[in-house]
Order: sequence, then structure tokens, then C-alpha cells
Amino acid sequence: MADFLTDARTTHSLSKEQIVRLLSEDARHDALLKAADDVRRRYVGDEIHLRGLIEFSNRCRRNCMYCGLRQGNLRAERYRLTPEQILDRAEKARDCGYRTIVLQSGEDPYYTVERMQEIIRGIKAMELALTLSIGEKTFEEYKAFRDVGADRYLLRIETTDRELYHRLDPGMSWENRARCLEDLRTLGYEVGTGSLVGLPGQSLESIADDLLFFKEIKADMVGIGPFIPHPDTPLGAEEGGKLMLSLRVMAVLRLLLPDINIPATTAMEALHPEGRLRALQGGANVIMPNVTEAEYRKLYILYPGKPGTDKEPALYRSDIAMKIRSIGRSVSEGYGFRGDYLKGKAVSSPE
Ligand code: 5AD
Ligand code: SF4
Repeated sequence: MADFLTDARTTHSLSKEQIVRLLSEDARHDALLKAADDVRRRYVGDEIHLRGLIEFSNRCRRNCMYCGLRQGNLRAERYRLTPEQILDRAEKARDCGYRTIVLQSGEDPYYTVERMQEIIRGIKAMELALTLSIGEKTFEEYKAFRDVGADRYLLRIETTDRELYHRLDPGMSWENRARCLEDLRTLGYEVGTGSLVGLPGQSLESIADDLLFFKEIKADMVGIGPFIPHPDTPLGAEEGGKLMLSLRVMAVLRLLLPDINIPATTAMEALHPEGRLRALQGGANVIMPNVTEAEYRKLYILYPGKPGTDKEPALYRSDIAMKIRSIGRSVSEGYGFRGDYLKGKAVSSPE
């Protein structure tokens, strides 16, 4: 049998059938992760980029069936940070050594375009690169954020299976989500997206389609996370995604898109204490440590089992740096590679 896994290390191309085989074969798990690790080393090197994540509001107008922040979850205790609190946190993160801040929230209309612009300006004045992860907006809104300096945007497509998406994200439209990703690209953002693994009713074929979609849209960053059932949601009694499969999906992603940024996601760590380290050894090159104040961090519960909820940011960073060194890798300290903030200008991604 010609070995398509070996070929994929250099061609970065796989058919849907080949992807499904790689995802289903336990026997090739280690070889697949090793191949992804090799490709990662050749294309993006040994440095790991840390992004400081601030979860600034857990209010959300949406009702995604899998998510603990869904509006219908009346048990969730809600909070919102003021622009001042957000900027204060960003400054602390910068003082701890972070060079990129990711601002994430539910879809919370309290943060109008004007409020967001004020926050974005404040963060850009600190010479930090800024990623937004605040959901579906109009082209004009995305443009307004970009105009005041937002560099990157994260919006997971969640799944490319339209039928599954519409079942799990009631009231939302897959086409609109895809439109958002296109708009972000048009506006010159670095575009991050991603998907969930192990959703109820999701097949390996559908996951293969997700991977091919990321290649088709030339995503700059892709986060893959296992679905973890949250007890206060309609999917609370479902089975949930597996770490092994999530790692394989991520490894195939690295083969297909050799030079993108791939985070070792928190959800992987929620399933296993070494989950993120395993991800870093199977294709990932980014970690997004949570720098939200502990008091709020513990209320931002997309899914249960979130790690690191009791540690202060500075400590958490040195903790992670130590783990990174223990696997022979290093933390990127500079603005560095690919779209990181460089002398007042975002470097555009090579197309
Ligand atoms: N398990 C894993 N990931 C989840 N997300 C939301 N709910 C869950 C869950 N139960 C992810 C979604 C979303 C991101 C912010 O969190 O993929 O895009
Ligand atoms: Fe809101 Fe995002 Fe959770 Fe959906 S996944 S309910 S949009 S926070």
C-alpha cells in the first residue's frame, strides 16, 4: 500500500476518504501525531506563542445547545467587565510578558461598536496585538473594529454540516457564519476559526469536511476542541468528544495546513491534565492562557472541567513556560512570526 501519510508530510494534500481513514485508525495514532509534529517543526519551528485570553462578558443572546453560556441557561451567574476593568487586565497581562491579547465574550449587545472601539483603542495604545472573539457581526461592525486597530478575529464555524449546525445552534444561520468569515478576510483580519469534535450526530466524514473547509478558506488559525457536555444544557446527557480523536483531527489539520497557527485548546486539557502538552507534540504551536481575574474566570463556563481556574496570570504563565520547556520547546518572547504585532503594523499573512 502506498503510504499516503508519508506523502502528506510533503504534499499537504489528503482526500476525504484518506482523512476518514486517518481519523478512524487507532493503529496509526502515534505515526499521525509524529508526522504532524515533524511538519509543525519544519514550518513554524519550536517556539510556542502565548496569547493572553480575557473573558470579558459571559452574557450571550444565543442559545447554542452545547454551551453553558447559552441564554436559556438560567443557572449561569452572569457578569460583565467595564472597559476600565478590561484595560486594567490587559495591562497586567502585558506586564507579565504577553504580546497578544484575545478578547472573548458571549454575544453581548451591551458592548456597542463605540464601547468596543474604546476598548480596542486602549489596548492598541499598549502596543499589544489584539484578537477579537465576540461572535457574529455585520461587515460594518467588523470594519469599525478593524479601523481602530483590531488585528485578528476568531470565529469557529463549529461544524460544516449545515443540518447539524442548524439543529445545535437554533435561530442561527450557517450561511451567515460563513459570510462573517469572508467579511473578516476581506477586511484584512487574520482569520481564526475552528470546530468541535464529537458533537452528537457528527460523523467522521463530516469532520473530514470541516478540515477540507479550513484549507479551502485558507484559515490563518484553527482551533479544534472536543465537545464537552455541560449539565445545564440540552446536551448535558450526551457522550462528548474524545481526546484521542480531537488530537487526530488536529494532527490532520497540521498536515493539510502546514504553516498556520494551531492552539492546544483548553478543552483538550479539560479532558486530560496533559491534554494540551500532547497537542503541542502533535501539531499545535499556540497556547491561550486565561488571564481573566479568577473571580470572573470561574463564571465563564462554556463546559465543565476548565483547568487553571485558581491561578493568577503571572503564576500561570511561568507554570506553562515550565511545561513547555519540559518538552524541549520554548516560549516565543518577541512579536515574531506571522501576523504578530510589528512596529505598529500587522504583518500580513503570506497567501
Ligand atoms: N464543549 C466544548 N467547547 C465548547 N464551546 C462552547 N461550548 C462548548 C462545549 N460544551 C466552544 C465553541 C465556541 C468556543 C468559544 O467554545 O466552539 O466557539
Ligand atoms: Fe453564546 Fe458562543 Fe456559547 Fe453560542 S457558543 S451560546 S454564541 S457563548
